[in-house]
Amino acid sequence: MKPATPPQETPRTYRVKSFGCQMNVYDGERMAELLATRGIAPAPEGEEADLVVLNTCHIREKAAEKVYSDIGRMVKAGAAAGRTPMIAVAGCVAQAEGEEIMARAPAVSMVVGPQAYHRLPEMLDRAVAGERSSDTDMPAIAKFAALPARKRIGPTAFLTVQEGCDKFCTYCVVPYTRGAEISRPYSDLTGEAVKLVEAGARELTLLGQNVNAWRGEDEAGRVIGLAGLIRALARVDGLERIRYTTSHPADMDDELIAAHGEVAKLMPYLHLPVQSGSDRVLKAMNRSHTVESYLKLLERFRAARPDIALSGDFIVGFPGESEAEFEATLSLVDEVRYAQAFSFKYSARPGTPAAAMDGQVPREVMEDRLKRLQQRLGRDQLAFNQASVGTTCEVLVERRGKHPGQWLGKSPWLQSVWFEADAKIGDLVSVELVQAGPVSLEGKVLELALT
Ligand code: 5AD
Ligand code: SF4
Repeated sequence: MKPATPPQETPRTYRVKSFGCQMNVYDGERMAELLATRGIAPAPEGEEADLVVLNTCHIREKAAEKVYSDIGRMVKAGAAAGRTPMIAVAGCVAQAEGEEIMARAPAVSMVVGPQAYHRLPEMLDRAVAGERSSDTDMPAIAKFAALPARKRIGPTAFLTVQEGCDKFCTYCVVPYTRGAEISRPYSDLTGEAVKLVEAGARELTLLGQNVNAWRGEDEAGRVIGLAGLIRALARVDGLERIRYTTSHPADMDDELIAAHGEVAKLMPYLHLPVQSGSDRVLKAMNRSHTVESYLKLLERFRAARPDIALSGDFIVGFPGESEAEFEATLSLVDEVRYAQAFSFKYSARPGTPAAAMDGQVPREVMEDRLKRLQQRLGRDQLAFNQASVGTTCEVLVERRGKHPGQWLGKSPWLQSVWFEADAKIGDLVSVELVQAGPVSLEGKVLELALT
């Protein structure tokens, strides 16, 4: 590609702005580590960075428009200050609209897709020489081998075990932006888990767009699924907690359900998106499960682990969704009583089958439905938290609270709990839950355990 910008100085500071899902948060952290290997430091709070990485999300809303307006704002502010940052666009908008970004936004030096960001350092060299570059290749496995090891991390860390999606839900861009489902090899993951624990992690969240589709071969050459991987990770000394997200109902197997009853380190929490409580809508979404098969799955999880906290994703206003079909979603919520949930207005994604379907639902109708759904989900989240009051549990301390002596962490059920104690980040503290709000609980310390 031809030089399009004058040579720039090597940036001294960076800022990675990540939008969207936990996978993007993970990718953003890894990009930051890559830049650090080049001696580039995070920009201090409140200061402009020399290099800005927009790590974008394409799943909802007008993601691409937002990218262009962010770039426009930086260019304008840069012109006023006499210094425009070097700009990289990463993430799923980069993957979906890379060429267009290169054409429409000359201020962008680098466009890099989610499977290619290990090449960021080379692209940076080119950018410094004044050459713009774009890399949206998808050789998924290559990226992980090329990423630097994480040296010092907090008590909770993400470990990407699987990427991509073959499900093609009709509303979703992920199969196009993240590519086909691939699993990282077992030995890479067990090796990385040990290193993460050595670097300070006590809890690992196994990440994947369809995490329970993970498959691998263990040391004995046996084909295993996510449950087998979880059991192997549970043997890592110093690792206290294991979580995983996000699962698809179609990939659930008996072993994973059983693991919830048998592996003490596997936390009692399941995020299992359902999207809708109407079988007609589920079919139009190409979800490959029905309301009944979904509820049966949840029953089996509850049988294996009666205290399991359930979480889900919902979309309101999918094309053609009638009032009665939306009310079926409300009934499903009433039946399941989720501990936590994520709910969204349907957003037409260019190139997906649903975007071309008849019966697009007006915005006001979607907004009304979302409000009604969130009101019920909020009611259930509060009820779940209130039902925990009076019980004791361990909280993994993640950070300081607002006031001196206050600490914040997560219960096994992923509730945010704050308490006062002489503790430190990374402690597992036994607390009695004494008060519940909609989004957090207060704990009272019983003892310092397993520090
Ligand atoms: N519109 C609204 N919500 C969406 N999701 C995915 N695609 C769309 C879309 N086009 C939601 C689904 C998914 C979550 C990650 O985002 O609920 O589970
Ligand atoms: Fe998107 Fe469906 Fe794949 Fe989830 S399972 S990433 S919603 S296509």
